[in-house]
Order: sequence, then structure tokens, then C-alpha cells
Amino acid sequence: METWRNRVALVTGASMGIGYITCKNLAKHGIKVVGCARSAEKLKDLEEQIVENGGQFLSIICDLRKQDDIMEMFEMIKKRWGGVDICINNAGLSLDAPIINGDFSSWENMWQM
Ligand SMILES: NC(=O)c1ccc[n+]([C@@H]2O[C@H](COP(=O)([O-])OP(=O)(O)OC[C@H]3O[C@@H](n4cnc5c(N)ncnc54)[C@H](OP(=O)(O)O)[C@@H]3O)[C@@H](O)[C@H]2O)c1
Repeated sequence: METWRNRVALVTGASMGIGYITCKNLAKHGIKVVGCARSAEKLKDLEEQIVENGGQFLSIICDLRKQDDIMEMFEMIKKRWGGVDICINNAGLSLDAPIINGDFSSWENMWQM
């Protein structure tokens, strides 16, 4: 992990689950972490925890279904840390929508991710 110290990692879906834990662990190893998701409160909470422990974290509210949000996110990262070295494209959702009788809007939602 020493190789990655001070590099910039973008973790999508940082507000909970695998993304949340990944952010904490990357920050522990001295990596500058950008975490994105839609839930502002959860990201804020994660930011506080990482910063309290001496890590560096940039939280960005971003809905990955929206191109403008994505473009804006990369602009923010560029301004703050110059760019992204590692991209952990973790965000996703799995709705209970079987292919035979699942609701179309659920499928549409999953495809957009
Ligand atoms: N857990 C498993 O057993 C498992 C198994 C196979 C694959 N996976 C995949 O691994 C990834 C993480 O799984 P997980 O269990 O940690 O999922 P999770 O707890 O449901 O977390 C999903 C994350 O994705 C974010 N997200 C969802 N829609 C988004 C959107 N439109 N824009 C931005 N962020 C969005 C959520 O944040 P907000 O809601 O705040 O936006 C959340 O932070 C997913 O891609 C999942 O499909 C998980």
C-alpha cells in the first residue's frame, strides 16, 4: 500500500456498505480519498470519522445517473487534488425485480447505474 500513499482514490457509493469501509481503509493507508454518493448526511459522517483519524477525505454529492453531476465531480477533484489515480467504481444497486415479472422501473433504475 505504501506505493499508493498520497495518491487520490475515487470511491463511488461511499455512503454505506462496501464503499464506506473501503474509504476508511484507503484513508488509513495515507491515500487521499474522494467518496461520492447521494446521501449528504452519511458522507458528512464518514468525512468526520476519517478526518478525526488523521485521514484526508473529500465528500462529493453525486448522482451517478446524471452526467452533469459526474462532470462537476471530476472538476471538483481536479481543483482540490489534481485528478484521480485510483477509481473504485463500487456504486450500484440491486432491486428485487426478477427478470420474468420484475417491475420495469426497477430495471430501468438498475441499468442507469
Ligand atoms: N454486498 C454484496 O453482497 C454484493 C454482491 C455482489 C455485488 N455487489 C455490488 O457491490 C457494490 C456495493 O455493494 P453494497 O452491498 O456495499 O451496496 P449498498 O450498501 O447498497 O451501497 C450502495 C452504494 O451505492 C450508492 N449509490 C446507489 N445509487 C447511486 C447513484 N445513483 N449515485 C451515486 N451513488 C449511488 C449508495 O449511496 P446513496 O444511496 O447515498 O447514493 C451506496 O453508497 C454494488 O455495486 C453491488 O451491486 C455487492
